[in-house]
Amino acid sequence: MIIKNVVIKRAGAKGISIGHSPEGKTLLVRGAAPGDVADVRIIKKRKKHLECITENIIQPGPDRRDPLCKHSEICGGCNWQHVYYSAQLKFKSQEVKDNLERIGKLENGEILPIISAPNEYRYRNKLEFSFSSNRWLTLEEVNSEKKIESRNALGYHVPGMWDKIIDIDECHLQQEPSNSIRLFVKNYALNNGLTFFHPRDKKGLLRTIMLRSTSENKWMFVLQFFEDPENEGLKLLEAVKLNFPQIVSIYYAHNTKGNDSIYDLDLILFHGKSSLIEKMPSVTSKGRTLSFKVGPKSFYQTNSAQAYVLYCEVLKMAKIKSKDVVYDLYTGTGTIALFMAQIAKKVIGIESVQEAIDAAKQNALDNNIVNTEFIVGDMREVFDEELWNKHGKPDVLITDPPRDGMHPKVVQKLLDLKIPKIVYVSCNTATQARDLDLMRGEYQVESVQPVDMFPQTHHIENILLLKLKSN
Ligand SMILES: C[S@@+](CC[C@H](N)C(=O)[O-])C[C@H]1O[C@@H](n2cnc3c(N)ncnc32)[C@H](O)[C@@H]1O
Repeated sequence: MIIKNVVIKRAGAKGISIGHSPEGKTLLVRGAAPGDVADVRIIKKRKKHLECITENIIQPGPDRRDPLCKHSEICGGCNWQHVYYSAQLKFKSQEVKDNLERIGKLENGEILPIISAPNEYRYRNKLEFSFSSNRWLTLEEVNSEKKIESRNALGYHVPGMWDKIIDIDECHLQQEPSNSIRLFVKNYALNNGLTFFHPRDKKGLLRTIMLRSTSENKWMFVLQFFEDPENEGLKLLEAVKLNFPQIVSIYYAHNTKGNDSIYDLDLILFHGKSSLIEKMPSVTSKGRTLSFKVGPKSFYQTNSAQAYVLYCEVLKMAKIKSKDVVYDLYTGTGTIALFMAQIAKKVIGIESVQEAIDAAKQNALDNNIVNTEFIVGDMREVFDEELWNKHGKPDVLITDPPRDGMHPKVVQKLLDLKIPKIVYVSCNTATQARDLDLMRGEYQVESVQPVDMFPQTHHIENILLLKLKSN
């Protein structure tokens, strides 16, 4: 059903805009922008609101622009690309403010102007694409009389649909030769009769690819096969190797599981190096460039250039001194810890993934950094008194949890420990605000610094500086 002439009032969470039906029902509209007047199609009825997509723009709002990407209407990856970047930043800042005030009950906290990303496009160092022999058809294709020749695709999932893949001709999120590699793989497979995965029927040779790149244009290519890759699959990898000399590392996996996650798979190194090296400039004029080993399973911030900006902001807000003991919770491969170790007396990084901790230790060795300790384990269990007695109580604590935020037990430990300064980095301001609400009895918010790591999307990184009230 279509509702005509909806006035879009404001930007909401997750790149969705908000308007109202003539009966006063709240409409959450994908693909719209504040100020637009649009016809919208209802796709789901909920108790309190209706979920809609933009069908037709009657009058564009002041922030609307033509999206660069031809796939933007179906691909949900870049859900703000139809508005100017300045407007995206405005919406993101507003979301930080709304969440911290509504959920975190922040009062009179200073929210600093959001730090924009230097590159609006081609900023990602990692992209993943899925094969499908049953691709998503556009409305034009469905309505057309023309016979659909091929349903094979290599691209992204349609938002919210695990079994529907949009074929992607060009994506603007990663530097070249990202598109060239993906199109080469697809065309090689089509020309040589290699089968694409059918997510429902569970058959087909080719399942997913992952492309990782460094700032120095070195590449890693990871291919997941669903069926046995012997012969035909390995010939494809050989062709990729020959055609793209910038790919210095090729892995593959034989994945017959129900999901695409590579984390519990045995990856086989087919060609080249086991990991890439990403470089990050020094924190001080006297310091040196840091090198980080990034393997196929490693977590590394996906926007390398802006990760440096983020870490510099953390450092600036934490005001770390040479006598400080610093804890870096959820350290990943230790990037923040190693960055801070150039100034602090000692940094202790904690993380649950063994491979990430191994990489963090290797990164410390490779960079000749001797004042770090890396500990593996679940934060709820390993971040305890025994650890504090062994390594010293933190003068500064940096925490960068996953999207779910910190477990209440971890928050309680932070409160018990009465750490003078906490710098809370988050990729989800709703859970960050929830944790803030638990801490605000004992901590006051000194500053709030949003950083945009992901232009064109609704994602936002936010840094909170918390100080112990009795200090
Ligand atoms: C947002 S990432 C942190 C990245 C890192 N600070 C950086 O900048 O590269 C969150 C990390 O928390 C880890 N993690 C998730 N749950 C955890 C838990 N319960 N205990 C310890 N680490 C956990 C994840 O493996 C991931 O590396």
